[in-house]
Amino acid sequence: MKKRNFAKPLSENTHLLRWVEKMVALCKPAHIHWVDGSQEEYDALCARMVEDGTFIKLNQKLWPGCYYARSDANDVARVEDRTYICSLSKEAAGPTNNWENPYEMRKKLRSLFAGCMAGRTLYVLPFSMGPVGGPMSQIGVQLTDSPYVVVNMRIMARIGLPVYAEIDKGEKRVVPCMHSVGAPLKAGASDVPWPCNAEKYIVHFPETREIWSYGSGYGGNALLGKKCFALRIASNMARDEGWMAEHMLILGVEDPKGEKTYVAAAFPSACGKTNFAMLIPPDALKKKGWKVWTVGDDIAWIKPDAEGRLHAINPEAGFFGVAPGTSVKTNPNAMASLAKNTIFTNVALTPEGGVWWEGMTDEPPAECTDWQGRPWTPALAKQTGAKAAHPNARFTAPAAQCPTIDPDWEKPDGVPLSALIFGGRRAATIPLIYQAFNWSSGVYVGATMGSEMTAAAAGTIGKVRRDPMAMLPFCGYHMGDYFRHWIMMQKKLSVTPRIFHVNWFRKDADGKFLWPGFRENMRILKWIVDRTRGRTLAKETPIGWMPRYEDVEWAGLDFPQEKWDQIMAFDRTAWRAEVMGHEELFLDLHDRLPKEMIYERELLICRM
Ligand code: GTP
Ligand code: SPV
Ligand code: MN
Repeated sequence: MKKRNFAKPLSENTHLLRWVEKMVALCKPAHIHWVDGSQEEYDALCARMVEDGTFIKLNQKLWPGCYYARSDANDVARVEDRTYICSLSKEAAGPTNNWENPYEMRKKLRSLFAGCMAGRTLYVLPFSMGPVGGPMSQIGVQLTDSPYVVVNMRIMARIGLPVYAEIDKGEKRVVPCMHSVGAPLKAGASDVPWPCNAEKYIVHFPETREIWSYGSGYGGNALLGKKCFALRIASNMARDEGWMAEHMLILGVEDPKGEKTYVAAAFPSACGKTNFAMLIPPDALKKKGWKVWTVGDDIAWIKPDAEGRLHAINPEAGFFGVAPGTSVKTNPNAMASLAKNTIFTNVALTPEGGVWWEGMTDEPPAECTDWQGRPWTPALAKQTGAKAAHPNARFTAPAAQCPTIDPDWEKPDGVPLSALIFGGRRAATIPLIYQAFNWSSGVYVGATMGSEMTAAAAGTIGKVRRDPMAMLPFCGYHMGDYFRHWIMMQKKLSVTPRIFHVNWFRKDADGKFLWPGFRENMRILKWIVDRTRGRTLAKETPIGWMPRYEDVEWAGLDFPQEKWDQIMAFDRTAWRAEVMGHEELFLDLHDRLPKEMIYERELLICRM
């Protein structure tokens, strides 16, 4: 490759040039690199990281184009307690977000970022969320001192030259995203494989549409197009402009007639969005002609079209998926997606130069190196419970490599949505499936969702918390206003999508999952599609419409009626406690809670 001059700007946009100059003056990097997004550049960055010890190149026969990284043990997940929404008023951020006075926060950030890139390279990384130039797409520029972030972002978003061209047109507002791992290098000092800082700040300024992230190189803390832009900042844009930015997968169900029904589903982090988005129907349903197509696995941008029908795009270009539990049995499409050109972070390394994680195979490897670089054996695991892979270990894989990727997944106007599904991880109380009575009761169902916490964020694992629409960590403004926005959206619609709630995680008295889950979820998805198309009946219950046993396709699965009754049970006493939990959330949000939520709660209590 002819060496280009990396410091030479690739854009002529004077705002961008001036901002980069200003940030260079603040962060004082040793070098500047304007990212063009090419394969050569990607290969060179990876090769450089292999030299520097950040990356290990995997055995290319087994894992072509794949690399492996281990993070610092203190930088393994999103840090919700270090995440801030710094709106002008505290009230605008609401009680579920951390807030700090924006003037104070800017002062703080200026001091943190002063000289923070010393000895490092500042990368100018332009990216488009959504297809470049699409009517629903948005543009950002991330300045980062992490080459790991640059190569991950190349998989997760559209980056480089075509995005500069969009920026140079000057038609769309660009979201500035500042990122530093917060580890300046003294002259002559040697670097560590995963530089980061014990002090972390993930900061959003909603009014000026800015993101500042300091101290972490991991996932949603550092790949700023994802949660910071596509959810926290985009939720603000969406409220102002009449669309929705949601923590939802998008999939298309093809039925035996060849008709396609698209649905979007909001499950909290590590609750099965990736699995559901890539579902392969059980053989009996496959034979009848049912097939699922994947559009996205984490984020949906949803907008009414001119006819008043909701359309959705996946703003991302890759999957940043949870590795543990992913196998050819649980998710063959994910395994195919990550078979090449993938970056693995915090999984285990095998002696052949391959990767492994808990749940990938029935038989663990005889030995491997764990996510912290220590020797690991199955015997050690038995003794100490040590995990080879971190529970939040992830793969970064191109979406285009998914065998079931939908032919329309990059359609600039998105795909039409017929149903929305909410779901959480609940061992008790919540039935496998029910359908909300209408839009406002559906908004109530989403707003009062609860889920047991997972390893996707630092904190207590297993505790049930309210996670409205799976957006608790991702809504960039007051949750009460967010509910109102949902309610208001109905006025823009000529057809309202049907709304459902699912729970794959209900357990029996022995703590075993009642529902086999994974591909068997197709049976529930089929009922959802049938309901949406008016093809099946349902039973009315206090919480919503439910399928009867005979309304579900059981071919190829032995699931007796007693078990069905158990998993679908509506328990009045348990729901009393549940509704009290709703009320606790509503008390927190009372100053901005839409009256529809209070009415819906009253109606639910009356029905109970
Ligand atoms: P983020 O990427 O963190 O937003 O999460 P995600 O919702 O995409 O999470 P993912 O699909 O990676 O969730 C994986 C976890 O859910 C693993 O622990 C799986 O075993 C579990 N899981 C997924 N589907 C099912 C299911 O149908 N039943 C059960 N019991 N577990 C499931
Ligand atoms: C999540 O935690 O919901 C994720 C992973 O999708 S991260 O991008 O790290 O937030
Ligand atoms: Mn997510």
